[in-house]
Amino acid sequence: ARVEKAGHKHFMAKEIAEQPGVLGDAIGHYLSNDGLDVNFPADGLDFTAYDRITMVACGTAYLACLTSKYWFEQLAGIPVDVDVASEFRYREPPVPARTLAVFVSQSGETADTLAALRYTEGKADKIAAVVNVPESSIARESDIVFPIHAGIEIGVASTKAFTCQLTVLALMALKAAVAKDRLDAEGLAQHLVSLQNLPGLMNIALGLSGDIKDVAAKLAEARDVLFLGRGAMYPLALEGALKLKEISYIHAEGYASGELKHGPIALVDKHVPVIVMAPHDRLFDKTVSNMQEVLARGGKVVLITDAQGAKIASDGVWQTIVLPEVSDLMAPILYALPAQLLAYHTAVAKGTDVDQPRNLAKSVTVE
Ligand code: G6P
Repeated sequence: ARVEKAGHKHFMAKEIAEQPGVLGDAIGHYLSNDGLDVNFPADGLDFTAYDRITMVACGTAYLACLTSKYWFEQLAGIPVDVDVASEFRYREPPVPARTLAVFVSQSGETADTLAALRYTEGKADKIAAVVNVPESSIARESDIVFPIHAGIEIGVASTKAFTCQLTVLALMALKAAVAKDRLDAEGLAQHLVSLQNLPGLMNIALGLSGDIKDVAAKLAEARDVLFLGRGAMYPLALEGALKLKEISYIHAEGYASGELKHGPIALVDKHVPVIVMAPHDRLFDKTVSNMQEVLARGGKVVLITDAQGAKIASDGVWQTIVLPEVSDLMAPILYALPAQLLAYHTAVAKGTDVDQPRNLAKSVTVE
């Protein structure tokens, strides 16, 4: 089927806007009829059988893995290793007994990810694929497939596939937590309710597009941009930076907030915008204290937070983007939207080719 832009200027804009809908679909595919439990593919995954998880992917899919590491470890107490496929395949790491290997790929055809999967064959207890294309090579060669149901993604810079990957990985982490007796049925149901609220919150986030466009007009003048986050917001800082550099060609780096003083703070002056992703969670104060180090050096901070966070920490901040309140688990999924919109509007302001950025390919099927 031919996919059209449906009134949007770019496929990327369309795919960003589609997220509440496709996320709702993806959730619908996995929830039981009463919405209180998660149904996985028929042969299932018995998380009691695994002591560790190895996750391998490239690009944005890798950052989805890195985010879910926080979830699997915090919710289920299962240690997780995350690797980029090109490193994993040649490092040839040991794969201990009782390892679940998870390969995440939008296309399901990325050469390095496929090679990494083949390396784990006969070594991992089970190979699971989280893919957008269920007929893909990675899906075919896995023991169990978790489709993300994002629909066809055309924009080279991944958006809706990322949030759908996160959604499916969150569901897996919740199921793992139940299997490991760290979450009861009621706790699971609560998380599932907040997951079902996510499309509504995403619609609110999309409504901030105009404000974000104003910020982007100024970001477009920057040569370097830093993104900071802590906990599961750290991989999202990496993703925000990746999106921005992919489509606007502005040099951007994501850092764990706590690493600021170990290097990137040397770059900070009034010409370097610093995007701080910080919902008002248990790590908020820590992140804010890093943000204040930036402000003290004349850095221009864009704070992406919620109402509570904005109330406490907006002083001296250049721009504040206020998202609705969201549960800790779902926060990276919601905060992905302003990161995508910032990159998108900055690229549009610079006049770059948003859907076909130079030198990049949608699917990297050669090494
Ligand atoms: C390319 C794309 C990225 C994508 C990465 C991994 O670099 O431009 O958007 O994240 O490949 O692709 P996959 O299909 O394996 O998710």
